[in-house]
Amino acid sequence: MLRPPLFAIVAVALALHSYAHPFSTPATRTRTAPSPLTGCTPSGLSWTPSGTHADAQPILYPASDTTPGWCFELGRLVSPHALAIHAAFAAGDTASSDQRVNVSAARAFCAHECTDCGASPSHCAAFVIARLAAQALRPGALTQCEYPPDSFTPLSATCEYACLPGHLSCGRACYDPLHWLCLDGVDLQPKSVMCGPTSQVCVAQQDGPMACHDVGESVGTCGGCLDPDGAPLGGVNCLAVPGVRGARCHRARCVATRCRTGYVLDGEACQPQADGASASDTRQVPFG
Ligand SMILES: *[C@@H]1O[C@H](CO)[C@@H](O)[C@H](O)[C@H]1NC(C)=O
Repeated sequence: MLRPPLFAIVAVALALHSYAHPFSTPATRTRTAPSPLTGCTPSGLSWTPSGTHADAQPILYPASDTTPGWCFELGRLVSPHALAIHAAFAAGDTASSDQRVNVSAARAFCAHECTDCGASPSHCAAFVIARLAAQALRPGALTQCEYPPDSFTPLSATCEYACLPGHLSCGRACYDPLHWLCLDGVDLQPKSVMCGPTSQVCVAQQDGPMACHDVGESVGTCGGCLDPDGAPLGGVNCLAVPGVRGARCHRARCVATRCRTGYVLDGEACQPQADGASASDTRQVPFG
């Protein structure tokens, strides 16, 4: 059987991919298969006392509508969840206030299974956490979620996550705004690379998307950017200059081509029409 069609499909797919991600960087990629060490398990931890006919005893409850399950980051239980377990053991009630830990079952579990725990609640908490980790980190035990490549904490077995402190969300990535720009809400671009020698990352109009503008030739951002409110940051919107009806931007300078009524084209600028100037001296547009 002939192979060219498959090759052609791959080539087109690669071409489309690079077209769709002109600023693609490692930080914009998402995991297709999450790291086996990062994610959340909807299962809890239970224990069947050996030598008895008792049912399995719940120690850590599984995820529910109101509880997030148990989340791991690079093999460690994330700190809010670890703290919840330690707090429940320290409080010493039979169940934790958030109904995630059955403290009395956990105590019985530690008494039977943990030779080093003694009466120490924190040792028992650490022992329970180690058992949960051993169970959760078996292949396939964590929920398959699409996470950012880095700089995030998984929050729940329903795939919620939070960007680390100091990081912002951009599409499916978490980024450090000191070093990256988020273009159009989805594309990360390193601030150092920017857009090229004559371009700057900026907005062309109020509330417009951030994009690269050739500030040497762009009529809306001539000579530099506008800030997100439309105020100049070294740049000029040539079409907003008083008296100008038509203009272009050339080598970062506005060149007026047509003027509004009451103005005359004087070189590259529109000047207020002097009293008594005859209409034939102006190249004023015949309407407006
Ligand atoms: C907590 O565990 C104990 C066993 O130690 C069990 O009898 C009890 O039913 C459990 N509580 C809940 C709410 O599941």
